[in-house]
Amino acid sequence: MYSNTSKKPVIAVVGAGPGIGEAVARRFAVEGFVVALLARTEETLKVMADGMNSDIGEDTAHYYITDLRVESTVLSSFQRIRADLGPVEVLVYNAGARRVNGRSILDTTTDEFENFTKINLFGAFWSSKCVLPDMLAAGKGTILFTSATGALRGMPGLASFSSGKFGLRSLCQVLTREYQSKGIHSVNIIVDGPVDGKLIGGVSRRKWQRAGDDEKLKDPESYLLQPTDLAHTYWFLHTQPRSTWTQELDVRAMKETLFTKL
Ligand SMILES: NC(=O)c1ccc[n+]([C@@H]2O[C@H](COP(=O)([O-])OP(=O)(O)OC[C@H]3O[C@@H](n4cnc5c(N)ncnc54)[C@H](OP(=O)(O)O)[C@@H]3O)[C@@H](O)[C@H]2O)c1
Repeated sequence: MYSNTSKKPVIAVVGAGPGIGEAVARRFAVEGFVVALLARTEETLKVMADGMNSDIGEDTAHYYITDLRVESTVLSSFQRIRADLGPVEVLVYNAGARRVNGRSILDTTTDEFENFTKINLFGAFWSSKCVLPDMLAAGKGTILFTSATGALRGMPGLASFSSGKFGLRSLCQVLTREYQSKGIHSVNIIVDGPVDGKLIGGVSRRKWQRAGDDEKLKDPESYLLQPTDLAHTYWFLHTQPRSTWTQELDVRAMKETLFTKL
């Protein structure tokens, strides 16, 4: 069991990996939040939590092993977070699942469609249900969904991804219509382009190297969204004055084209 004796506000980062998830967690931790990190892989979670506790302060970050495809593990993680740290003030739903190389609908298995949709959509529904009662009791709360271009465009090959992200966008609009007037600020963040995290950042750099594309290799920030820069956006959205709340926001790197690819 962890503790939050200094009664810091609590952020839950659901789908916490070394890219956007960790960057957002670190940004909120630097601003005085205690962080609950949720994902499946204990080793990665531990490295992230240890890093934050050593860089930002003891007891800043805690982790909860969770499989977002299974409602009972989501519920039990949020029950433990509440008991350990207190009510969640900010929920970031960051998990997503997609194929790097697409597959047609006829070649997509029910298993993949179901599993990906659980990660892209159901996990956000269950997580929101877990945090809303405390947020409503407090009369405030922020819910930030990490979305993607696939929420706006159904691209061939990505049925098992886009369907969930479209649903997530709709869930966010419903959240806003049902709860915004009660103090809950929900935002769907369309990440319109590749993120410079371990996987996609590495794939992009290898592609540029193979193509001898020195311009991109020298200036990745113009082509790839930087997780720490995105984290500023999440913080900005959380701290918006209540007279000017954003419901959906899209972001891309300078040389990324507008909503044209996934
Ligand atoms: N990376 C990109 O280029 C890009 C572009 C546009 C949009 N996005 C969106 O950004 C979000 C991800 O950000 P990121 O790519 O920077 O990743 P990240 O924050 O580095 O990691 C996300 C984490 O989600 C966790 N996760 C996945 N499935 C899960 C499950 N069933 N249960 C619990 N946790 C789960 C994974 O950890 P475990 O495997 O340990 O569970 C993974 O490390 C997604 O919503 C994605 O659609 C990403």
